[in-house]
Amino acid sequence: MSLILRVRFRALARRMLTTVRAFRCRKILTHGRDLHLGAGLRIWAPDRVILGNHVYIGKGVHIEANCQIGNYCLIANRVSIIGRHDHDFSAVGFPIRYAPWIGSKLVRSRYLTEKAVIEDDVWVGFGSIILTGVTIGRGSVVAAGSVISRDIPPYSIAGGVPARVIRKRFSDEATIERHESSIRNGRFHLSELGYDYCVIEPADLP
Ligand SMILES: CC(C)(COP(=O)(O)OP(=O)(O)OC[C@H]1O[C@@H](n2cnc3c(N)ncnc32)[C@H](O)[C@@H]1OP(=O)(O)O)[C@@H](O)C(=O)NCCC(=O)NCCS
Repeated sequence: MSLILRVRFRALARRMLTTVRAFRCRKILTHGRDLHLGAGLRIWAPDRVILGNHVYIGKGVHIEANCQIGNYCLIANRVSIIGRHDHDFSAVGFPIRYAPWIGSKLVRSRYLTEKAVIEDDVWVGFGSIILTGVTIGRGSVVAAGSVISRDIPPYSIAGGVPARVIRKRFSDEATIERHESSIRNGRFHLSELGYDYCVIEPADLP
């Protein structure tokens, strides 16, 4: 098989695998266009997982909680999104093994709709853990190996355990406005042939 055919076949296979992975969890998953779901992904939630347009989910990612991931987000390999209150440890009289569980069909957990929100244009670095109840503001970067237990303001670079804001991604509001205007007015399309084949045309910036 020629090189170009092999590359095209691999791209088609990637597309099909994303479709199959999304189909498997169709009861809880809603997603937009230009989605990539990596190998070894596990998606489960007591209620809903909502993915925007142009979301990339890497290999070995565990989404095991309600979450909402915005447009243009990049979730690196081995990231986990997990339920802060999966087992209701405040329930008196239950050993933790049998404490009220978020997935129970018999006992409705009061945390059933608790979720993690990742706004648009966020990069979550390798191996990070995100707990429900937090919002990662748009445009932010989460450093590799971080634990996100509190909200992260927009356009922050945050890292550590627990994660703290390290610095801002852009230095001022005017730059953020130019960045967002470019995303709004530019052309971006996924190609499963690889990054170098994607349509990546930021709008002309003033
Ligand atoms: C967060 C990140 C983007 C910062 O990169 P940078 O601009 O080069 O930042 P610096 O190296 O100047 O680090 C700034 C500070 O953050 C700290 N820092 C950087 N990465 C960190 C991490 N993963 N956890 C905790 N702190 C971190 C640095 O130690 C430094 O602290 P100091 O000022 O006290 O010395 C980068 O470190 C990172 O984690 N990228 C994600 C990589 C990844 O996940 N790749 C997978 C492929 S998708």
